[in-house]
Amino acid sequence: MSLSWLPLFLVLLSLLGGTQGAWNLRQIRNKLHRQQQAESFKSFYTRFGLPRGALSYTTALEGYLTQPLDHFNRRNNATYRQRYWINEAFWQRPGGPVFLYIGGEGSLSEFSVLSGEHVEMAQKHQALLVSLEHRYYGASINEDGLTLEAIRFLSSQQALADLASFHLFISQKYNLTRNTWICFGGSYPGSLSAWFRLKFPHLVYAAVASSAPVRAKLDFTDYNKVVGHSLSDPVIGGSAKCLDLIRRGFQRVDSLLKLGNVTQLEKDFFSCEALRGPDDFSEFVSNLADIFMGAVQYNGEIKGNDVQGLCQIMTTEGMKSAYEGLKKVNKAYMEATALKCVENSYQKSVEDLNSTKINPVGVGERQWYYQTCTEFGYYQTCEDSSCPFSPLITLSSQLALCPRIFQIPLESVQKSVQFTNEFYGSNHPKSSRIIFVNGDIDPWHALSVLKNQSHSEVAIFINGTAHCANMSPSRPNDPPSLQKAREVRMQIVESSLIVYTGTLKHSNLLN
Ligand SMILES: *[C@@H]1O[C@H](CO)[C@@H](O)[C@H](O)[C@H]1NC(C)=O
Ligand SMILES: *[C@@H]1O[C@H](CO)[C@@H](O)[C@H](O)[C@H]1NC(C)=O
Ligand SMILES: *[C@@H]1O[C@H](CO)[C@@H](O)[C@H](O)[C@H]1NC(C)=O
Ligand SMILES: *[C@@H]1O[C@H](CO)[C@@H](O)[C@H](O)[C@H]1NC(C)=O
Ligand SMILES: *[C@@H]1O[C@H](CO)[C@@H](O)[C@H](O)[C@H]1NC(C)=O
Ligand SMILES: *[C@@H]1O[C@H](CO)[C@@H](O)[C@H](O)[C@H]1NC(C)=O
Repeated sequence: MSLSWLPLFLVLLSLLGGTQGAWNLRQIRNKLHRQQQAESFKSFYTRFGLPRGALSYTTALEGYLTQPLDHFNRRNNATYRQRYWINEAFWQRPGGPVFLYIGGEGSLSEFSVLSGEHVEMAQKHQALLVSLEHRYYGASINEDGLTLEAIRFLSSQQALADLASFHLFISQKYNLTRNTWICFGGSYPGSLSAWFRLKFPHLVYAAVASSAPVRAKLDFTDYNKVVGHSLSDPVIGGSAKCLDLIRRGFQRVDSLLKLGNVTQLEKDFFSCEALRGPDDFSEFVSNLADIFMGAVQYNGEIKGNDVQGLCQIMTTEGMKSAYEGLKKVNKAYMEATALKCVENSYQKSVEDLNSTKINPVGVGERQWYYQTCTEFGYYQTCEDSSCPFSPLITLSSQLALCPRIFQIPLESVQKSVQFTNEFYGSNHPKSSRIIFVNGDIDPWHALSVLKNQSHSEVAIFINGTAHCANMSPSRPNDPPSLQKAREVRMQIVESSLIVYTGTLKHSNLLN
């Protein structure tokens, strides 16, 4: 397929860190989607220096593979079409390695095989690049859509089986025999990358798992604990004073809610509609917290919404109160995202998640919520005193959506989370040749593998970087810690590759 200029509006990598959050975080995620797309686009064309108008330059092939809807019951003959991308440009036939980029909770685009750190590595190692969109996301949704009945076959286990079946398809298509496969993924796909190696060690030689929350957790209290920590981290422009002011600002908001002075809050924070009771209150404080959570999780990735900027506002000389600081942060956020008002209606959120309308480009919020209810939990709560925001961000308010939207009983959510950890081994998976990369700013690192498990499972913990920072194309202004991590990772991938040169070269480090 020829490249078109349209993909600016498509989505690149699904490394968004599934966050239930509220409406604001969904805006932030989508904004990041667009920005990453634009950046990949730019990086790709800079790297290859294509002349303007070179639109027929063929690099990425798009295709669809017919997959069983249920890999685990072949008496169900239903199928769906799963989208994939291939970039053969760097491949040394027939023996060069295969780099598999794994899709997650959003659509993929051709840039999944054209841009990013894995592409830089592929170029260096003359690898065949392939990527697979996750079932039920993007264009890979079965005909019945996202109804309650249809969504049953959405799970990480089915997704791994899809990957196995894709491995077979690619092997047959290119007549591959002994080629070394390495899989890559970030965030939820980072977990899939680790799990693909764990469950299908005969198919993939090594895995890179960036910011991968491999440990499922119902009540993900630690998320906001890390957020608090990052907001006070001077390395990225945070401070103890900043954190304290944020905490006090939220205390003021909570007391206004308690005193029933709701109209004041609606006015001060530009709520689109009146706040009608506890559910809206919860949505309102979540939206406000989202601005901070988003700034931490994507620190340095989104212009105008980073820890340094927020803390500058909060700690401005002469600010009347912490509450005023929050108002300013909210205003700045609204200006940066061109919002006229903030959507705090719980009912609207429920309707959004309940909508079966397919969004072929972007994050699949409904599907992702379904996966939290049936596999992972990951609810980012604020009921613990380590959290600087409002205790109205509760587990029960987030859990309540499972029965309400998907008719999944509350009790089963916790059981599913436990089973997920039993099934995959939580944050101590017993496998080998998995490289776990995390940034210490990123709240998701709390559920990942941070310590070297054995000599063959490697953990890289980067000082000062946020969610999946290592996956984007390398930039001249990358912080030194990230540059170093890229080098380490490059060496590890290199040493784990069996480069086909007539003789097989094994690594010392990872064999
Ligand atoms: C699927 O199975 C049903 C019976 O269970 C059969 O009627 C139908 O023809 C089958 N479809 C295909 C495509 O094989
Ligand atoms: C596939 O590869 C094998 C071994 O390299 C070779 O003998 C065979 O002819 C190839 N088949 C095709 C269809 O290319
Ligand atoms: C409630 O808000 C009004 C302004 O709308 C303000 O005059 C009043 O002092 C507030 N009450 C409390 C208890 O904060
Ligand atoms: C979700 O949508 C379905 C189908 O349109 C409807 O029957 C159901 O009442 C809705 N549930 C909620 C919680 O809005
Ligand atoms: C794990 O081992 C690798 C290579 O042996 C090393 O580079 C890395 O720093 C270690 N990670 C941690 C968290 O100690
Ligand atoms: C992280 O990097 C900063 C400078 O960028 C340095 O001051 C700090 O000591 C580093 N922390 C660790 C744990 O290496």
